[in-house]
Amino acid sequence: MINYSDWHKRLVRIYGQIPGFFSSGYALPPLVVQIEVTHRCNLNCSTCYQMKGVKIEEELNLEEIRGIIDQLPRAAFLTLTGGEPFIREDMPEIINYALSRNRCNILTNGTLIGEDTIRMFVEKGLFLFGTSLDGIGSIHDKIRNGKGTYEKAVEVIRSIQKHKESKRGKYPLININTLIMPQNIECLYEILLVAEKMEVDYLTIMFPKLSDAQYTPPFYDDLNHEKFLSFPRGPEFLDAIDQSILNKQLRLIKSHQGSVTIRSYPYGILEPEGMQKYLKRQLKLQDFYPCYVPWSTVCISPRGDVYPCLAYRVGTIRENTLKAVWNGQCFREYRKKLRKMSLMPGCLGCCYSKFKKGWSQLIF
Ligand SMILES: C[S@@+](CC[C@H](N)C(=O)[O-])C[C@H]1O[C@@H](n2cnc3c(N)ncnc32)[C@H](O)[C@@H]1O
Ligand code: SF4
Ligand code: SF4
Repeated sequence: MINYSDWHKRLVRIYGQIPGFFSSGYALPPLVVQIEVTHRCNLNCSTCYQMKGVKIEEELNLEEIRGIIDQLPRAAFLTLTGGEPFIREDMPEIINYALSRNRCNILTNGTLIGEDTIRMFVEKGLFLFGTSLDGIGSIHDKIRNGKGTYEKAVEVIRSIQKHKESKRGKYPLININTLIMPQNIECLYEILLVAEKMEVDYLTIMFPKLSDAQYTPPFYDDLNHEKFLSFPRGPEFLDAIDQSILNKQLRLIKSHQGSVTIRSYPYGILEPEGMQKYLKRQLKLQDFYPCYVPWSTVCISPRGDVYPCLAYRVGTIRENTLKAVWNGQCFREYRKKLRKMSLMPGCLGCCYSKFKKGWSQLIF
């Protein structure tokens, strides 16, 4: 079977590396765009890094989001996420519009999605549907602070599969995100078995972010801010993870011969050395390959702020075009600094970084 995720990552990496070779900081047009349509959520997961208290009136409205989508290159891969995207009543309209122009990926907790929306995913060709499963049954419900949330997420996956089957369609591909936590390390393999049974395409095992400046506001306007230049401590709950249990579960996962492709965030981190360094916060910049993500990828916050990945505001879509911000002075300065440093200390633990010696079924 062709591994689309792997090929996509290779392509995006090469696409970023070519202009990244030059020191000007300029990039080719964006190939991966992430729009966070809201910070709001119906759940309250203890680990969540999303900003609280952003008012609905401050969020980009439907017209503004359509306006952003109109500016994207047709070849761009668009991720719609949040917060919980489906807390927005106009989310079906946003998706409908996005799917008429771009290949799309949606990230959701899966608790607020109706049958009509699922039908649209299949009929309009959503490329990738991502939902989170942090455990089986009550473990997931406890982590997510919501009774019945596991059943709802599983129901949505089953319903997508049913609609795909009746249309003899292949899309959306389905990805399950699982965040490693002390509460779920004993059931990671079981999650894989459930994923296998539901015939999902990917299981992404994620380590928690080490820095609260990765992929989320509040923004810092100084590129030399300590958030970017000092080594992050990471959340304290990492100390409560029993590494021997984690290793055992990952051995089971690695030796499992099934159809689900295993990915990890950061890439390649799922082997004893990587995990140990991660959990003990002993990662070094040299453990990772240089990063070219900001030469291909951009994020837009619910208030329209544009940022590369670390929380450095490079512009706002409410005052500038995406094109102007993409190769504007701030974005170029960010790329130049990153090029000089290969990776910044604030990058450690970022999901898109790639551990040099690691394992995942994906080569990139
Ligand atoms: C912020 S959520 C947004 C989409 C949706 N609300 C959901 O839960 O899937 C995106 C992903 O981030 C994960 N996540 C939550 N807290 C995290 C943390 N501290 N570090 C890394 N990922 C985290 C969630 O489990 C989820 O898979
Ligand atoms: S469902 Fe997603 S956005 Fe909501 S609290 Fe949980 S991780 Fe955060
Ligand atoms: S590793 Fe650093 S530069 Fe690369 S995507 Fe992550 S935060 Fe951005």
